[in-house]
Amino acid sequence: GLVNTKEMFAKAVKGGYAIPAYNFNNMEQLQAIIMACVETKSPVILQVSKGARDYANMNILRNMARGATEYAKELGCEIPIVLHLDHGDSFETCKECIDNGFSSVMIDGSHFPYDENVALTKKVVEYAHQFGVTVEGELGVLAGIEDEVSSAVSHYTQPSEVIDFVSKTGVDSLAISIGTSHGANKFTPEQCTRNAEGILIPPPLRFDILEEIEKKLPGFPIVLHGSSSVPMEYVNMINEYGGKLKDSVGIPEEQLRLASKSAVCKINIDSDARLAMTAMVRKVFAEKPGEFDPRKYLGPARAELKKMYMHKNIDVLGSAGQA
Ligand code: G3H
Ligand code: 13P
Ligand code: NA
Ligand code: ZN
Repeated sequence: GLVNTKEMFAKAVKGGYAIPAYNFNNMEQLQAIIMACVETKSPVILQVSKGARDYANMNILRNMARGATEYAKELGCEIPIVLHLDHGDSFETCKECIDNGFSSVMIDGSHFPYDENVALTKKVVEYAHQFGVTVEGELGVLAGIEDEVSSAVSHYTQPSEVIDFVSKTGVDSLAISIGTSHGANKFTPEQCTRNAEGILIPPPLRFDILEEIEKKLPGFPIVLHGSSSVPMEYVNMINEYGGKLKDSVGIPEEQLRLASKSAVCKINIDSDARLAMTAMVRKVFAEKPGEFDPRKYLGPARAELKKMYMHKNIDVLGSAGQA
């Protein structure tokens, strides 16, 4: 069955690795996640955004996640699987997910004034904990768009607020803002430097802020959103086969590897999966224009996704072998 994040996070913080939190809204993504995590023996967090719920339907998604636990068993390894609401926007949304069997929820009050964020998060925690459901809160605002919420620039998490927030709300984990952001264009070209090949090099994450937060909350589970790396190979593949992606830039893997060794124990990745799927679908369409069976392009896309997730678990997050 599904588990909450409690034990998973405690082990990850101690072991110096991060649990992958992969978004899903369709069958091929979910199959690829489970295949990759079983094969690498990695615990995993399946996340569902509000957008995913609107797209795929709550009942379908929760039953897919249940099916995923049985599918993992069938593949030969009972890995810990969490079903998590990503960026919950209200108490009602979180309650609905808890009532529908989610084992973890995020309440994202980061765009509200501090006291409102505390009050809302506390209310969700009080409800969730009655059912053994764990809660992720957020302090600081990422640049870019989070569902309906948007901000032009990052508002980094203030280390001076974290102890008060965690003790007042009772959250189980805390998402922070240290320079990551959502989507495939995480930095403007102006924020970057260019290397000899003309490739955009983003400014480094604020590891100094992360360190200060860790000092205030020793051993407390920290979460990083917006952690796709936006691999050049996928961006190039998309553009080679008729796409038009411009100035795409993500978080270098080296920095995520470093973050994984710290109290960061959950790393959110969605955009890289979108890129992998789109790249492979475009390739098949370009190379086999006569093909019209969706399995013939979604199948290769699923295989590419699986490869990408395995790479994250093994080479970036260090979650492989931890299930
Ligand atoms: O937080 C952002 C995630 O990538 C989910 O995106 O709201 O388009 O499903 P979405
Ligand atoms: P990316 O857009 O970097 O994949 O971030 C996903 C995320 O934070 C989901 O909550
Ligand atoms: Na870690
Ligand atoms: Zn996010």
